[in-house]
Amino acid sequence: MSTTMGTTRVFNVHARNWSTQASSSDSSGSEKNDDNEKKLTVSSYWGVTPPSITKADGSAWKWNCFRPWEAYQADTSIDVKKHHTPVTWNDKFAYWIVQACKYPAHLYFQRKHIHHAVLLETVAAVPGMVGGMLLHTKSLRRFEQSGGWIKALLEEAENERMHLMTFIDIYRPKWHERALVFAVQGVFFNAYFLAYLASPKLAHRITGYLEEEAVSSYTEFLNDLENGAMEDIPAPAIAIDYWCLPQNSTLKDVVRVIRADEAHHRDINHFASDIHCQGHELKEYPAPIGYH
Ligand SMILES: [Fe+2]
Ligand SMILES: [Fe+2]
Repeated sequence: MSTTMGTTRVFNVHARNWSTQASSSDSSGSEKNDDNEKKLTVSSYWGVTPPSITKADGSAWKWNCFRPWEAYQADTSIDVKKHHTPVTWNDKFAYWIVQACKYPAHLYFQRKHIHHAVLLETVAAVPGMVGGMLLHTKSLRRFEQSGGWIKALLEEAENERMHLMTFIDIYRPKWHERALVFAVQGVFFNAYFLAYLASPKLAHRITGYLEEEAVSSYTEFLNDLENGAMEDIPAPAIAIDYWCLPQNSTLKDVVRVIRADEAHHRDINHFASDIHCQGHELKEYPAPIGYH
C-alpha cells in the first residue's frame, strides 16, 4: 500500500481551466468542438476546474472514473483457497443462500466466463454500497464514528464496479442480459438492505460466501485461459492503469488480480461477521481501509 501511495506522487496533477484548453485545441472550428466549448464554459462559470492529469511519462490520463492515486498493485499472494467453515446456524443459513443462488447462475452461463463475470460484478458491487450507506446513516443517528468501516465498504463497492468497467470493455451485455441484471439488482438490493438492517452479521457472512464463490468462478476462468480452452486477449487499457499492470498484460493477468481482489473482499466480510458474532460492533475494530 505504502509503495502504491509512494508511486502516485510521481503523477503530475494540476488544475486547468477547461474552456482555455478547449479553445486552444479548436483549430477546425467544427460544430462538435463548439458544443464541447459551450459545455466547458458552463462548467468554468461555476469555478469547477477539473484537473488535467498526466502519467509519469507525460501522456494524458484518460480515465475520469478513477484517478492515478486510486490505482494499486493487487496482492496476488493471498490464499485463494481459504474457506470459512459454516458452524453456527447463521453461517449455515448464509452458506446455503449463496449455494442456492450459485447453481442457477452456473446453469445459465455455463462456461461463458465473461458473461458470468459481468452479471456477478453487478451483484457483487451492491453489498459494500448498502452496508456503507447503512453504517453512514447509523453514524449520523447515533452521533458516533464508524471506525473507518463506511470507507472500507464503499471502497469495496467501488473496486467491484471497476471490475465491471473492465469487463464491459471486453463484452457489452445483450438486451436479455441487461434485463436480467435489472431484475436481479431490484431483488438483491432490497433483500440485502433488509438483511443488513436485520442482521449485519448474517449480511456480512452472506457476502463472505459470495466472495468465496467469486474466487472459485475466477479460478475456473483462469484455468480455461491457462489450458487454452479460452483465447487469451490483450488486457483492456483501463485494467492496465487501474492495477498498474505491465503494458503487455493479457486477460489472464487481469483475471488473476481480480481474483485477488475478491479474496480480499472475502476476508473483510468474514472478519466483519466474526466481529459481530463475538458480540462486538464494527466501530470497535479499525477497518481494513486500502486492504488489497
Ligand atoms: Fe468483483
Ligand atoms: Fe468481491
